[in-house]
Amino acid sequence: MLRIFFIVLALSLVTLVAITGIRGQKGKKPPIEIFPDMDHQPKVKSQVPTGFFADSRGDRQPVPGTVPLGYAAPLSKGGAVADEGKYTAVRFANSTDYADTGRFGDQWGTGIPLPVTAELMQRGGERYAIFCAVCHGSSGAGNGVAGQYGMAAIASYHQDRLRTMPDGEIFNTITHGKNTMLGYGGKIPVDDRWAIVAYVRALQLSQHAELSDVPPEERAKLEAAK
Ligand code: HEC
Repeated sequence: MLRIFFIVLALSLVTLVAITGIRGQKGKKPPIEIFPDMDHQPKVKSQVPTGFFADSRGDRQPVPGTVPLGYAAPLSKGGAVADEGKYTAVRFANSTDYADTGRFGDQWGTGIPLPVTAELMQRGGERYAIFCAVCHGSSGAGNGVAGQYGMAAIASYHQDRLRTMPDGEIFNTITHGKNTMLGYGGKIPVDDRWAIVAYVRALQLSQHAELSDVPPEERAKLEAAK
């Protein structure tokens, strides 16, 4: 009988301790971890020295040839980068150059800061087809396929406001976006952005040309076709 009493007493004490949660005292030793999982990993933390590398730096220098975001690759020929590994170092994100910002001081500028060649136009057309046509449509009328999937109020380039807009402002729209259009600065290198601006200008001209824009030797053909 007495034995049963002691067993019940011991069990109740255990239950009491379990419920009231006596957790012992504060200690200096680390707690005993039965399942440490991945709490402790040998790793390099930022701004902390490490014995792993000979120079004790935890943060490593970029690999030689690393291209920071905001630098531009040279124009490609037919899709491949023309001069791989060589990047135009002046094209940096915080530059105030017209070629990088589309601005002269606080004014939008106009002009393509690259030689406008057939190659550049072709490049612009190719990049336009990849990055812009889904929304703006291949002719720039704002009727790209994204409209069918809920992209609303896509601007058409064929309106006077955009026809008379400075090149630099269009460049800036590509870089930073405008209202619901996101910026493409992180995806399209600077030279390609200008190539696209040149192509957008060509699209605008294609829908809004005068007979006098046509070279004289071609005019006769048009007159004949009337
Ligand atoms: C995801 C869809 C989408 C893509 C892709 C897109 N745009 Fe747009 N774009 C828009 C919309 C929507 C507007 C109208 C924004 C507004 O409300 O002002 C716009 C506006 C513009 C404007 C007029 C800005 C102004 O000042 O009114 C220009 C120029 C333009 N886009 C050029 C481009 C070019 C060049 C590209 C390719 C690099 C491009 N867009 C890619 C959706 C897009």
